[in-house]
Amino acid sequence: MTGRKFEPISRKLPGLIHGCDYNPEQWLALPEVLREDPPLMRRALCNAVTVGIFAWSLLEPEEGRFDFGWLDRVMDDLWSAGIAVILATPSAGRPAWLAQAYPEVLRVDAERRRDLQGLRARHCYTSPVYRQKVQAINSRLAERYGKHPALILWHLSNEYGGECHCPLCQEAFRLWLRRRYGDSLERLNQAWWTAFWSARYSDWSQIESPAPRGQRLLNGLILDWKRFVTEQTADFMRAELAPLRELSPEVPVTTNLMGAYRGLDYRRLAAELDVASWDSYPCWHAPTGEDGRPGEEWRTAADTAFWHSLVRGLKAGRPFLLMESTPSFSNWHPVHKLKRPGLHLLSSLLAVAHGSDSVQYFQWRKSRGGYEKFHGAVVDHGGGGDSRVFREVAEVGETLKRLDEVAGSGVPAETALLFDWENWWALEEASGLGLEGERGYWQTCLAHHRPFWCLGLPVDVIGPTEELKGYRLVIAPMLYLLRPGVAESLERFVGGGGTLVSTYWSGIADETDLCFLGGFPGPLRRVLGIHCEELDSLYPQESNRVVPRPRNELGLAGEYRARNFCDLVRLESARALAEYGEDFYRGRPALTVNDFGRGRAYYLASWNEEPFLQDFYRALSERLGLRRALEAPLPRGVSAQLRADGENEYLFLLNFTQEVQAVELGLAPLHDLLSGQPASGRVVLPPYGLAVLRRSGG
Ligand code: GAL
Ligand code: ZN
Repeated sequence: MTGRKFEPISRKLPGLIHGCDYNPEQWLALPEVLREDPPLMRRALCNAVTVGIFAWSLLEPEEGRFDFGWLDRVMDDLWSAGIAVILATPSAGRPAWLAQAYPEVLRVDAERRRDLQGLRARHCYTSPVYRQKVQAINSRLAERYGKHPALILWHLSNEYGGECHCPLCQEAFRLWLRRRYGDSLERLNQAWWTAFWSARYSDWSQIESPAPRGQRLLNGLILDWKRFVTEQTADFMRAELAPLRELSPEVPVTTNLMGAYRGLDYRRLAAELDVASWDSYPCWHAPTGEDGRPGEEWRTAADTAFWHSLVRGLKAGRPFLLMESTPSFSNWHPVHKLKRPGLHLLSSLLAVAHGSDSVQYFQWRKSRGGYEKFHGAVVDHGGGGDSRVFREVAEVGETLKRLDEVAGSGVPAETALLFDWENWWALEEASGLGLEGERGYWQTCLAHHRPFWCLGLPVDVIGPTEELKGYRLVIAPMLYLLRPGVAESLERFVGGGGTLVSTYWSGIADETDLCFLGGFPGPLRRVLGIHCEELDSLYPQESNRVVPRPRNELGLAGEYRARNFCDLVRLESARALAEYGEDFYRGRPALTVNDFGRGRAYYLASWNEEPFLQDFYRALSERLGLRRALEAPLPRGVSAQLRADGENEYLFLLNFTQEVQAVELGLAPLHDLLSGQPASGRVVLPPYGLAVLRRSGG
């Protein structure tokens, strides 16, 4: 919703960031390599690198004995080369001595087995010892480098995630529950519906986290456990953060998130951060087309764009950082496909087009040994800068320099798509619908987002409890779990003139997963004007037809395929725009609309194939007059995206096809930021080509 200029992430580096994870600690025995790095980074036009993520066992080789000499040199050398530093806290790389001396720091899995020392991360988020040790090293880092001229940002740990079932965590869980339920076991028993299968608790001490051999089917428990895991992780993060905030209050903080990660409600973590960042590793060139054919790169692009927008939404539209991406391939993907020439620049700019103020990589230099020695990197085992990948990386650096003025601008979206982790958890734990693959929650959100990406309509991805004022269209796919206040907020939004799109399997349960009584879609019934009586689930080979009513107000014609879910709806105040064409519910509404206050609420009763979503959202956006990034037809596979700072607009045209594509710009004069020339008329995009155009006075 924000076409405005945000404060730069760091005043020391107000433009776009180009950089990578840098692991000098792996090369201390080869000083010639370390000497080569800063000048090579400059050749790659990197202006910032992330250092120290897994360096704990080199910074503190034995308990209480610190060695910062090597890091001092690295920081100074980088700074002398004009390269800024994002300094990481090392908590994700627990040293062996620590686990040996304090086994409580090792994680216990759901089977109640304690880990052995080994893998990175996987520490207990509750352990007081771990928190102390992390705070001790973080304090030293902040004291020593908090004022270093190279430092622009703290990078907390690495990809927080997972859960621990140790006795300390069990105790903390019970305490958290006591607070949540006002110390009333009775309230908890009611909320979790424990009379079912005699699950009633008569003492707090009986409560245990979900376990494969224990309680694993009590939905209320599972939901609260997941909430607790998020809160405990956030609490650990606050503990990590405390010394940094105290000793270097002026340095902003981030942590690298994982986008599509289910385990943590990232909105809770983001609240503690100054800037959101994430690690994005799409499977480029995967066979995403029909019949498993390659050549539909735009789908991967559109879906990656969704996660970019989700991360941007974590900090109310403030530009985020693409903290990690691969310059070529990822060693953990099922197939180690190289990025085809040109795709690296294009995929990097995809992030920028959706609000990233950086393009960063994992990693600078391929490690010589260890699990990731074959992961893509800017510098290969051959060394130096004479490689295709290095040249393409430098080209990104060159391009970002030309786009510097884009930094800080927002994305002016009139559409919001609601995405909620709690809803995701509840849906996936609900037994009864077989919610897998394309039937699942995030897959459905991606499917609803794709038409917008193809039409060049910017979308914000936000949480259901966030402010909706300012949006014109809100899409809430499969909002099964309704947190308190959400139905009221949606009513206010529609009543005030907004347009809502809801789907089957919405308004089913409250926040402890108790079904609403009195008819679905529960508290959404008024605004949608329908009563959902029964939900039919279809076998994969089955389908139904969705037949638009003649002269329906969206002008939908032809027929569409419904699969997976068909909701049997009764109209209350709504009217039908389309109906089912087959089965015993032939003729019943498949698409409805309800006038509510000054706005409208649509209900998609069935899971419909892509052509329906494309036509429906095109018709709806035209009816609403939603503003596209470019008012021109876009060839399939080409997207137009917009950033804006209140004064200028930046139009990104991205060609995710292997063909040359032409796009009509219209007559208004634009400025091509990459060529430095004025532009109007038609722009020709080479295969995997792109253009970035400034429109003034936007
Ligand atoms: C990320 C992680 C990095 C590196 C990378 C490889 O998830 O943060 O440390 O392992 O994956 O793709
Ligand atoms: Zn634990």
